[in-house]
Formats: sequence, structure tokens, C-alpha cells
Amino acid sequence: MFESMIAKYYCRIHESLAQDIHGLHFYNPIGLASGFDKNAEIVRPLASLGFGYLELGSVTQMPQEGNEKPRMFRHVEEESLQNAMGFNNIGARGMLAHLKEVYPFCIPLGINIGKNKNIVQGDSLKNYELSLDTLKDYGDYFAFNLSSPNTPGLRDLQNESFVADLINMAKGVTNKPIFIKISPDMEIDSMLTVCDSAIKHGVSGIIATNTSIDYTLVSHPAKRNEQCFGGISGKALTSRSREILKILGQNFHKKTTLISVGGICDSNEVYERIKLGANLVQILSSMVYEGPTIIARMSNELAEKLKADGFNHINDAIGVAVQ
Ligand SMILES: Cc1cc2nc3c(=O)[nH]c(=O)nc-3n(C[C@H](O)[C@H](O)[C@H](O)COP(=O)(O)O)c2cc1C
Repeated sequence: MFESMIAKYYCRIHESLAQDIHGLHFYNPIGLASGFDKNAEIVRPLASLGFGYLELGSVTQMPQEGNEKPRMFRHVEEESLQNAMGFNNIGARGMLAHLKEVYPFCIPLGINIGKNKNIVQGDSLKNYELSLDTLKDYGDYFAFNLSSPNTPGLRDLQNESFVADLINMAKGVTNKPIFIKISPDMEIDSMLTVCDSAIKHGVSGIIATNTSIDYTLVSHPAKRNEQCFGGISGKALTSRSREILKILGQNFHKKTTLISVGGICDSNEVYERIKLGANLVQILSSMVYEGPTIIARMSNELAEKLKADGFNHINDAIGVAVQ
């Protein structure tokens, strides 16, 4: 009841923002990035804020506690966060119980799958497979997280051969869209090779990017035992994430779906990402700093900006700045 009152206020339909992608209807392109609702606990309240879709998780096959606290820090002046959560979550079966209460849902629900910390690297594929198999009927798309800096060895899975195995495995389990989520810290050549491999094997799209371990992005990074740790998100990540999208747009615009995430703090940045080739965007840190009204504001202003620039529909603007 309370949620529907909020939704009436925040969920404005702008026909110019609606897209059908991989058989899913997105009434606007602004999604929640994974990490905010790791266990699918607050799906209805989040949707009432005006998101076009939600990416839930990361979930792992078995429940796990995550890293020791403190594991989340604010860099207020830089409107940025540093987190080392480490996939604290209730596990795929726990999430499934929550999803059964809401699924199918009024907006697309993506499920972001991570890997348990305590398994040997050689069992990674099986670990992803078991989670996907548990959740396959209760999500609209699935994203494999290969890029959290907080699970040792996870980023090593961003290689051509693992990505090929992962997509092949996923295609054997479900016909639903499959995405991979990549790091902002890869060498550009390796990033392109991994994305190429994913596309060749039938991935639906690339989500870029996760948090960064470049601690020069903030002036006073948090340390444990004298070592910087965790990943940086928010405004400090804006230009890096935008640069990566630019390169992905140059190489893969129209070849795959691009979802841009990282330091998207206002409607100007949403619009920039769309023009650089993003079909959809996601936010997390800017919601922490700006509050929950940011989603409706971003989508209302995006609709106005498109109109002011003479675009009848978002599809006409996607990729116009790809060079
Ligand atoms: C507290 C926190 C937890 C996160 N947890 C996850 C996660 O579980 N899985 C994942 O793929 N990304 C996770 N992320 C990364 C975000 O999804 C996103 O890629 C990153 O924060 C950049 O976007 P932003 O600048 O809008 O926050 C997390 C980020 C934060 C700040």
C-alpha cells in the first residue's frame, strides 16, 4: 500500500525511454547496480522508486558472512565509496525463497551471481552453475560477476577460456539472457579479448564496470594492516568507467548490449553514457549520496534532454557519440 503510493509519485512513464531488449521490457534505462539488495529482500520498495530494472545479488551458491568489519567506507568530499563487503549473502536457496514471493515482477529482475570464497579455483564453474540452476526460473536475466576485487582470485576468471566455458555452461542451463560484469582495472587488450570471446559464445551483453582497485582515485584510501583494500565506486570512478564504455562502444556497439555502471551521478552522465553506446545504465553510490529521489529525477531529466536535442526516442540517441 505504502509502496504503491510512493510508486505513483516516482514511477513516471516516458514513452521515449522505453526499450525492449532480449524480450524484456525496460520502461526506463536506469537500473539498480548489484550489491545494494544482495538477498532480494526489498524488491518492491526499490521498484517503487522508479527504477527501470533491478540487478539483485551478488548471490553465491552457499551462504557466506563476507569480510570482517569495518568493510565499507565513505569518501564524502569525493562522493565515493570504498567497500570490501566480500559477497555477504544468504546463498542461492535463501534468495530463491525471497524471489518466490515477488516473481514474476513488474520490471525486469536481473540476478548477479558471484563465486563462494572458500572453493578451489578449479570448482568455480560448478559453483556458478549450481547458483544458476537454483535461480534460473526466478530471474529475467543473469549476470556473472567476474570482477569483484573482494574475492581472492575472482578477477583471474576474466580470461577468454573461462568466459567461453561459463557462457556455454549457462546456455545449457537456461535460455534467458546472460551477461558478464567486468572490472575497470583490466588491460584494454585483455578486456577486448574477453568481451570478444563472450560475444562469440553468445553472451547477451557486457556490464561495465565493477569497483576499482586503483586507490589513487581517492585522496585518503582506507587501509587495513597498512594496505589499501576493497574497491572504489562513485564519482571517483566516473571518468574511468566512462572511458571503458567509450572503448566498448567503439568495438561492440550494435554487436552486443552494453550496460554502463560506475560513477553515474546525474542525468547528464546518464545521457553521456547512452550517447557512448550504453543501452542501459545502473547506479549504486549516487543513490547513497543523493538519496532515493535520484532515480525519478534522472529519468525525468533524461526524457527532457532527449526531447530538447530532437531525439524522439532513446533508441535514436544510443551510440550517436560512438566514433
Ligand atoms: C557496498 C557495495 C557493494 C557492492 N556489491 C557488489 C556485488 O555484490 N556484486 C557486484 O557485481 N557489484 C557490487 N558492487 C559494485 C556495484 O554494483 C557497481 O558496479 C559499482 O559500485 C560502480 O557503480 P557506482 O559508482 O554507481 O556505485 C558493490 C558496490 C558497493 C558500493
